[in-house]
Amino acid sequence: MTEHMTRMPAGELISERPNTRKVFVKTYGCQMNVYDSDRMTDALAKDGYVATDVLEDADLVLLNTCHIREKAAEKVYSALGRLRDLKKQHAAEGREMMIGVAGCVAQAEGAEILRRAPAVDLVIGPQTYHRLPEALRRAKNGERVVETDYAIEDKFEHLPAPDKAKTRARGVTAFLTVQEGCDKFCTFCVVPYTRGAEVSRPVSQILREAEKLADAGVREITLLGQNVNAWHGEGPDGRTWGLGELLHCLAKIPGVARLRYTTSHPRDMDDSLIAAHRDLPALMPYLHLPIQSGSDRILKAMNRRHTAAQYIALIERIKAVKPDLALSGDFIVGFPGETDQDFEDTLRLVETVGYAQAFSFKYSTRPGTPGADLTDQVPEDVKTARLERLQALLVRQQRAFAEQCVGKTIDLLLEKPGRMPGQLVGRSPWLQPVNIDAKTSQIGDIISVRITAAGNNSLFAEAINVETLGSLPA
Ligand code: SAH
Ligand code: SF4
Ligand code: F3S
Repeated sequence: MTEHMTRMPAGELISERPNTRKVFVKTYGCQMNVYDSDRMTDALAKDGYVATDVLEDADLVLLNTCHIREKAAEKVYSALGRLRDLKKQHAAEGREMMIGVAGCVAQAEGAEILRRAPAVDLVIGPQTYHRLPEALRRAKNGERVVETDYAIEDKFEHLPAPDKAKTRARGVTAFLTVQEGCDKFCTFCVVPYTRGAEVSRPVSQILREAEKLADAGVREITLLGQNVNAWHGEGPDGRTWGLGELLHCLAKIPGVARLRYTTSHPRDMDDSLIAAHRDLPALMPYLHLPIQSGSDRILKAMNRRHTAAQYIALIERIKAVKPDLALSGDFIVGFPGETDQDFEDTLRLVETVGYAQAFSFKYSTRPGTPGADLTDQVPEDVKTARLERLQALLVRQQRAFAEQCVGKTIDLLLEKPGRMPGQLVGRSPWLQPVNIDAKTSQIGDIISVRITAAGNNSLFAEAINVETLGSLPA
């Protein structure tokens, strides 16, 4: 749209573009929010909305929010402050800009958002996205809408499947949510309250969606769930399937070359999933398996319901069948009552396991969680010092892992243009970004490459001579 058109009075504007409206979606938080943002965009398409990445052009701005730590939630309110000013500016020019808040802050705070941020027209929680078009119509009629019920109907049955053209535009890798919610109630975590109880999508629904993705050119699917390995469902053979069986079935879909899944809980790593790592070449050798702390005392207070030794034993079992498995994890420092000794236990566990990648956070008190009622909170400066030490160790491990990849020959899925002209970027089996000289027409190909160097956050590679290999895999 030209600058000139955006300045026109509203009436003329509508006649200029009868059916198109633009939605700007800003996504915070985890991959499940990324998936949801695309589903919301797809759901709005039948009402004439197209996605824009130019905020000033938007008729509707949706913030898909995260409530996991205090900072994440506060970000939303500061973004809403800036949007209020933009909305006023647009109104002065005779243009309407609706503001919607979706995601986990919407679920946790509901109507409170309308009180704190009066410019917001619509608040919609993650379980009710299939009602978004209808909620938007109500908001347009002047109602200040809050949709945060846990819907009885299955939202996935009512949300449109990924659109072929849009999926193609989104690239050769895709997310597919197979499980939502959490029944684990770790004492620090808001997820069981914002995403509700654990629900698994049925096998047939997942297969249908995966086939659509493959049909649109997707080569790598990452299955998502807050506790993805708690997924279970009735298979076509009438037996109860776990994630291992589901992965086997997905690997048979023509075009699907690579599978990943995240995030897993150590308690739900069952034998069939471990066997899938042994038996399925399409399942990438990467496992995000958070432990949070290396201290049994803290693990107990967190209600993780396993010990550090059990976690290490589990990893040994998986590595026994998949020796090149790369591990990733999440850590929280400064959980209430965490002593220097507890923290040392965490460092020791990290040394023992050896992570290819990891995420670490200072404990953030979340209202409504059991952790918020604990009295022995750790001072902020202690949390900061511990986080620095832990992150220094994790960065060293990540670098060491990258260094030992140099010289290896790997299969690389070429995903998208890289930073330099003539370069593409893809992911190694261990999820590291890999830069390589290649043509845009090769996007979607899986080629054999040799890793030549390791940078700070990515690897560099060169294609292995086609002649020496015979022909490249499709
Ligand atoms: N279901 C996943 C984690 C989902 S939340 C699991 O059980 O591992 C993602 C990460 O955010 C968590 O692993 C944890 O490390 C971090 N996190 C969650 N609540 C937090 C809090 N209150 N303060 C700091 N970090 C938190
Ligand atoms: Fe949160 Fe624990 Fe559930 Fe993970 S398992 S989502 S950390 S309550
Ligand atoms: Fe955040 Fe909700 Fe995901 S709280 S991490 S967006 S499940």
